[in-house]
Amino acid sequence: MINNQFAKDVDAGLSTFPKKLSSKYFYDDAGDKIFQKIMAMPSYYVTKAEYQVLEQRSDEIVAQLNVTNHLNIYELGAGDGTKTILLLKALTKANINFTYYPIDISADVLDTCEDNVKAALPSAKVEKLNYTYDEAMSQIHSEENETNLIVFLGSNLGNLYHSDAIAFLKKIQGNLGAEDWLMMGLDKMKNPATILAAYNDEDGITQGFNLNILHRMNSELGGNFDVSKFTHWPVYNPESGTCTSYLVSAEKQEVRVNGKTYTIAKAESIHTEISQKYNRPIINWLCKMSGLTLEQIYTDEKEYFLECLVKRV
Ligand code: AVJ
Repeated sequence: MINNQFAKDVDAGLSTFPKKLSSKYFYDDAGDKIFQKIMAMPSYYVTKAEYQVLEQRSDEIVAQLNVTNHLNIYELGAGDGTKTILLLKALTKANINFTYYPIDISADVLDTCEDNVKAALPSAKVEKLNYTYDEAMSQIHSEENETNLIVFLGSNLGNLYHSDAIAFLKKIQGNLGAEDWLMMGLDKMKNPATILAAYNDEDGITQGFNLNILHRMNSELGGNFDVSKFTHWPVYNPESGTCTSYLVSAEKQEVRVNGKTYTIAKAESIHTEISQKYNRPIINWLCKMSGLTLEQIYTDEKEYFLECLVKRV
C-alpha cells in the first residue's frame, strides 16, 4: 500500500459522489509534455493571447510598476519562461535591476526555464526555487529598498473555484508589502464555442492530457484502469464561467487502485479539472475579497486574455 498524498487524494476522490480527481496530478513528465502540445494547438488560444499581451504591452506594464530600486520577481509555476522573458526584456530595456526567481515543482522545467532566460538575456540574475507554491511563498519577504513582484501567469488561478482562489490570493496578499505587486494572467469569458474548442481538440491531445491521470494511477498506484473505457468530456457553463472536464465511463467497471476496489457505474463521471474564466467585475470582486486592489488590466487585440496588475489594499 502506498500512503502518499496522491494515494490519499485518489482514495478520497473515488470514494465520494460525484467522483473527482485533482488536476494538479496531471503534471508528471508525460503530462508536462502533453501540456506543451496543448499550448501549441491552434484552438488553445490562451497561451497565444497572453503572449501577445506581453509582447505588446510589457513596456507599459514596466512603467506602471514604477520600480526605483531592486526588483525581485517570484514566478509561481514558471514553466519554460517563454512569456516571462518578454517582461524581463522590457525591464532590462528600462534599466531596472532585477533577480528572477522561477518557482516550479519540476527541477527539469526549472533548468529549461533558466537556459531560456540566459539565452535571451545573458546577464539576467536567475535563482531557481524548486518548491511547491506554498513552500515558495514562505520564502518571499519584503527587504528594505527592494520591491517584490509575484507573477502568476497562464490563468493557472483558474484551476481553483472562487472560494479556493480567494484563499490562495489571501496567502499571496499576506506576502505583499505596500509597494509590491502581483501580476496575474486570467482567461476572459468569451464565446462559449471558442472556449469549448480550446478544451476539445479533434486530435485528442486534451483527451490524452485528461486520461494521463488514469495512466498515473496505473503506474504509480498499481491501478488497472482501462483508459479506452473513458471519454474526455469538457463542458462550458457561460453563467458561472467555469469550463469543467470529466472522464465518463463507457460501462460499469470495477477498478483496483492501490489495493482497493472501486465501482464505477455505466455513464458515471469523474471530475478532473476546472478552468475558470473571468471578467473585470469578477476580478474586482476576487481582489476585494482577498484584501487586494486591481490597479490595471492589459489585454490582447481580441480581448481574450486579461493581464492584471494588483496591489495590496
Ligand atoms: C494550465 C490550468 C491554465 O486550464 O487552460 C489546458 C490546463 N487543461 N487544457 C487550462 C489545461 C486542458 C490549463 N491551465
